[in-house]
Amino acid sequence: MTTRLACHICQNKKLHKFLSLGPIPLANSFLQQDQLSVSEPYYPLDVCYCSNCGLVQLAQVIAPEILFKNYAYLTGTSEPMKAHFAGLAEDIIKKFSPPSGALVIDIGSNDGTLLQNFQRYNMRVLGIEPATNVAKLASLRGTETLNDFFNESLAHKICSEKGQPRIILATNVLAHVADLESLLRGVNRLLASDGVFVIEVPYLVDMLSKVEFDTIYHEHLRYFAVRPLVTLFSKFDMGIADVEHISVHGGSLRVYVQKFIHSLPSSVTELLDLETEAKIDSLETYQKFAEDISRIKEELLSLLKALKNQGAKIAGYGAPAKGNILLNYCQIGMDILDYVTDTTPFKQGRYTPGMHIPVFPESHFHEFPPDYALLLAWNYADEILREEERYRQAGGRFIVPIPRPQIV
Ligand code: TMP
Repeated sequence: MTTRLACHICQNKKLHKFLSLGPIPLANSFLQQDQLSVSEPYYPLDVCYCSNCGLVQLAQVIAPEILFKNYAYLTGTSEPMKAHFAGLAEDIIKKFSPPSGALVIDIGSNDGTLLQNFQRYNMRVLGIEPATNVAKLASLRGTETLNDFFNESLAHKICSEKGQPRIILATNVLAHVADLESLLRGVNRLLASDGVFVIEVPYLVDMLSKVEFDTIYHEHLRYFAVRPLVTLFSKFDMGIADVEHISVHGGSLRVYVQKFIHSLPSSVTELLDLETEAKIDSLETYQKFAEDISRIKEELLSLLKALKNQGAKIAGYGAPAKGNILLNYCQIGMDILDYVTDTTPFKQGRYTPGMHIPVFPESHFHEFPPDYALLLAWNYADEILREEERYRQAGGRFIVPIPRPQIV
């Protein structure tokens, strides 16, 4: 682990630390039974604000090889994410009409779920995925995938072997990469001059307004708003051609970046106005966010303990990385939750980091329905509540932890 002394974008050395959620284990480090007796590594989780460029960022950086060489998350196990990425591919094709056979590259391509949509449109695709287990799965499914970290030198290699892509994608990647500058130099080197770099990142304004504090974990080094993104891309002679505020992952930005763009389109200025209104350039906003987080912990624990005292059975629904932050920060263990359930095969049969709660497949939830299900995968609330209509009809209740814990 290294501690950053300067801003990830503008190198400003005066960063304001406003929140500390650690020490806490890595959010995706699910354990096997024989690992339960071995002590797990805990790391600080401190969050800072740069008053120069506005970037919210972690103070600590864990080595990418530790975080990403073997990865628990598979995009294809979430039906809502499959639908989301099918929609993204369709939108890009409508917007840019790339010719069939054009090259599409996905940085952090996971199991190939996004690229498979472009394969259906007869495009040439290449995934870049550092997690060996996940890259292998994508290749087996017929999506050409390089098992590597994307950086400037890999960009040179790809360029000479495959040519320049019309489309480069990086969804939920810009927050993750340790060397952001090398990634962007690589994108600039690789992208065709009329190409587009499409990114999706969770939106800071949503994180603050909905108190999505559990999305803060070691993998997420940065929490983006439009203003720091404008600064970031201009450093690499690129600019935002268009930006959309979308609902995925509790509220995200989809940003279309192109070379040689120097003016701000109205979609950008509108979001910059929204950011001013949300006062994301004021340290007080971050101090209030930290207070809101303490309040959630207090309210959630008192709700869960009161239900438990009444004899209720409670389980966790979903075992997302963010769920592990919530459980560890609030110290919710097996004295409260009997188990958690998750659709990802890799997580099933393992135990959650830190709190050591067993993870079962969804079938377990239906076989042993709890009285209350703590919705850890709150970003899929609509889909999950619809899916679990029968459980709710039978009297089961969901507890949604943020922005204020409530029973629905
Ligand atoms: P994500 O928020 O990072 O996409 O992770 C969501 C997790 O929740 C992932 O491990 C899959 C799991 N999940 C379920 O267990 N049931 C569901 O219905 C959905 C949509 C997700």
